[in-house]
Amino acid sequence: MSTVGGSNAAGGVLAALPAAGGVCDNPPMTESQARATVGIGPTSAEPAAALGDGRAYGRPAGTWDPDLVETSAGTPAGELLRRYWHPVALSSAATGIPRKVRILSEDLILFRDGAGRPGLVEPRCCHRGTTLYYGRVEDDGIRCPYHGWLFAVDGACLDQPCEPDRGRNRASYRQPWYPVQDYNGLVFAYMGPADRQPVLPRYDIFEDLRDDEEIVIIDHFAFGGPTVAPCNWFQTHENAMDPYHVFILHNAISGHQFDPKLEIWPRIDWQRHAWGVTASQDRDLPDGTVLHRVTEIRVPTIRVIPTPTLTVLGKTNNMSWAVPIDDTHTWVVSMLRKPKDRTAQGLPSYADGKTWFELDEEGHQRNPGDYETQVGQGPITLHSTERLSSSDRGVSMVRRQFIEQVQAVASGGDPVGVSFDPDQPPVSLRAGNYIVTPGDESLANEYSYVDQ
Ligand code: FES
Ligand SMILES: [Fe+2]
Repeated sequence: MSTVGGSNAAGGVLAALPAAGGVCDNPPMTESQARATVGIGPTSAEPAAALGDGRAYGRPAGTWDPDLVETSAGTPAGELLRRYWHPVALSSAATGIPRKVRILSEDLILFRDGAGRPGLVEPRCCHRGTTLYYGRVEDDGIRCPYHGWLFAVDGACLDQPCEPDRGRNRASYRQPWYPVQDYNGLVFAYMGPADRQPVLPRYDIFEDLRDDEEIVIIDHFAFGGPTVAPCNWFQTHENAMDPYHVFILHNAISGHQFDPKLEIWPRIDWQRHAWGVTASQDRDLPDGTVLHRVTEIRVPTIRVIPTPTLTVLGKTNNMSWAVPIDDTHTWVVSMLRKPKDRTAQGLPSYADGKTWFELDEEGHQRNPGDYETQVGQGPITLHSTERLSSSDRGVSMVRRQFIEQVQAVASGGDPVGVSFDPDQPPVSLRAGNYIVTPGDESLANEYSYVDQ
């Protein structure tokens, strides 16, 4: 077992990393294995002669894989995304004041009518096109400010005050709309075809809340950055299957951003499931137990990252969505269950205990985190210029599975992870910070906060 000091002082930090080669218990992949696993973009196994002397002049322009990054309706990836429910806003944002929402590259208007029903409609009024952003929310829906047509949350036109009998044909008009539902403090929308609308999933970690517990929503990027990341959603999403960066970025490069136990070099593996991919990291602790940390990705945008500060052990108490606002903006939002008398979870601390927002520019350079590295890949990362390696196997697995699902929908099928059964039981999540005692491989099925 190798450990790394958390100091970020100049020199010595990276020298303390395990030596190159054999740094973990996963055997290195062969070139053919890597190519078979990666399947996307070039690999580091290209002939050295093709690299010349490596200077930048004449390098090819990079491109991205549209089936991973596109979000608009009519694109293959956008159509896959439209087969699922997505968080579009905090429930508290749906009020009697219309609010602009951008989701999957569509601009929409969110409101909540007087009966408490959330609504999500196209901004452009179906009469003569002014925006419902200035509409008046009433008991039954939203009334256009221009000529007063009133639309219910399902787009039905209920009133046309300038027309005879307040609109004898009003039933033949409909404002474009999407179905929405509240769930634990978030408004979810389904933006796909009516005949393929799945039920809104529930998740087991939010069931059977005790009186002393509550569910809260946190929408700081990676628990500590801005709310919106100016980059494509997929590059933030796939990070959840990149456990190597935890050790390098969050410990060796930027010091103690998480619990020091995460500085213990782990045994890493990935598991493919019908619904997604998990990554497991096993760390031998000094007391003879093993920290079995599991992160989880579910198609399409769900990622489950157990609290990295290890203030919460056992099964995860949170899950997140990397919500595509459009091709170059992402809203990462988390739902978290906790005792009412506990703070949500420890935030990653950067230099000198500062928060992300307290760092100046040089502070961000000296202490980069998830935001800097993922936004730093560019508005849309360039897959063609990547050199995916054996440590990127989990990323490759996520990409491969996503593209398979893009193809499944394009071929007329239903994607994984959707259910049309209203009695579907809650989805059972796998992720957690499990302390495992040798001889007892059982995993705690509940979370527990620990005092540190
Ligand atoms: S433009 Fe909306 S009612 Fe006329
Ligand atoms: Fe991270």
